[in-house]
Amino acid sequence: MKEVVDRWSSRRAFILAVTGAAVGLGNIWRFPYVAGENGGALFFLLYVFFVLAMGLPVMIAEIMIGRAGRRPPIQALAALAQERGRSAKWSWVAGFGLLTVFLVLSFYSVVSGWSIEYLSSTVQGKFAGASAENISHALDVFLANPWLVVLNHSLFMLLTMAVVAKGVSSGLERLNNWLMPLLYLLLVVLVIYAATTPGFGEALKWLFSPKFEELTPLVVVNALGHAFFTLAIGACALMAYGAYMPEDQSLVKAVVIVAVLDVLVAVLSGVAIFSVVFSHHLDPTSGPGLMFVALPIAFSAMPFGIPLLGAFFLLLLFATWTSSINLAEPMVASISTGRLSRPVAALIVGLCVWAAGLLPALSFSTLANVRPIAGMTFFDLVTSVPPDIFLPLGGLMIAWFAANVLDPEKAAGALGVGTSGFWLWLHITRYVAIPLVVLVLLSALVPKLI
Ligand code: ALA
Repeated sequence: MKEVVDRWSSRRAFILAVTGAAVGLGNIWRFPYVAGENGGALFFLLYVFFVLAMGLPVMIAEIMIGRAGRRPPIQALAALAQERGRSAKWSWVAGFGLLTVFLVLSFYSVVSGWSIEYLSSTVQGKFAGASAENISHALDVFLANPWLVVLNHSLFMLLTMAVVAKGVSSGLERLNNWLMPLLYLLLVVLVIYAATTPGFGEALKWLFSPKFEELTPLVVVNALGHAFFTLAIGACALMAYGAYMPEDQSLVKAVVIVAVLDVLVAVLSGVAIFSVVFSHHLDPTSGPGLMFVALPIAFSAMPFGIPLLGAFFLLLLFATWTSSINLAEPMVASISTGRLSRPVAALIVGLCVWAAGLLPALSFSTLANVRPIAGMTFFDLVTSVPPDIFLPLGGLMIAWFAANVLDPEKAAGALGVGTSGFWLWLHITRYVAIPLVVLVLLSALVPKLI
């Protein structure tokens, strides 16, 4: 297959696209609830450590391969391996990545659909003057309605595939340019409000003062998985974006900006949500519904809260949209080569992911009692195993490929920071990132296997 000719129109456009891919449900919805289930501060500390020690080198590796290959992930890995006299079977790494993004997108679309529902409920005034109890109850009532959940999941899949069908570099740019900064601004407003609530101090303590005695392999692996999930790495999704990266851009600078923003959004969102949780005596370990209960409670109590809540869900929807487009891109780009046009590929991928998404969508209603493994519903399974196990495993293989298979000259060219910068990345990847990922995965998996 020939190299792609599409490019992001500017360096800023590339950074915005990668930030759009990274910032989404992971920061605003998943971070608070997974941190809540894993003890708060310790999880946060590990997550930041993993972003720095493993996230950044793997993110660089992934974009580097895309940039060096200038093809969709499957084709890029096969071509780059063959150039070095290695087996084209390296493309299986991308195959595993596609399976992972498929599973992740299946639940991502469902939960993003919840935001559509919450946007519509806010516009209809359902949260105005509602008590914390009523708001909490409203989520259960919504999730128990299979039709409504599937309808919103379907709408979100349509939104995603409409952009991917057109080609991301043209479809996405305008969306990213001004909506993401607005979301950050609204989060800052929310944190300023949170600082006036009685639970603020407790929230800061919960998030920033770790209890090391609570360290378990599970907390560690969850933090690693979350770092990969929120940075959008480990499944070849950023590799697909790297293929469109402009020639004259610094990869390292872009990656650092994205990682800082990503952690910042998680912190803002965590502080805001846990302030509400502690002010209203909610349970921080209450799981995936946490954000959907805490935010309506917070906004409905502040001046101009309801319009701001509407704006928040709208912006969250944009943030999840830009992330889901990134998740869909490697699948659509990989199969829309040769005779299959992009719109047809997007239709096929969209339909398959939509169908798979019915399982998590119905896990709170029709399929609530179907628990295939370890007492977990389909929703529990798909929101934990692919992010926490598959992404680190995929990231490991991607980093290995970039550090040991990819032509070093090509890799250094794609990194674009000179020989010493390349040497530094290579050594951190080989001797820090890769061994640490192996260690964490083994520590979590081996006790289960014995
Ligand atoms: N990186 C994306 C997110 O955090 C998947 O939502």
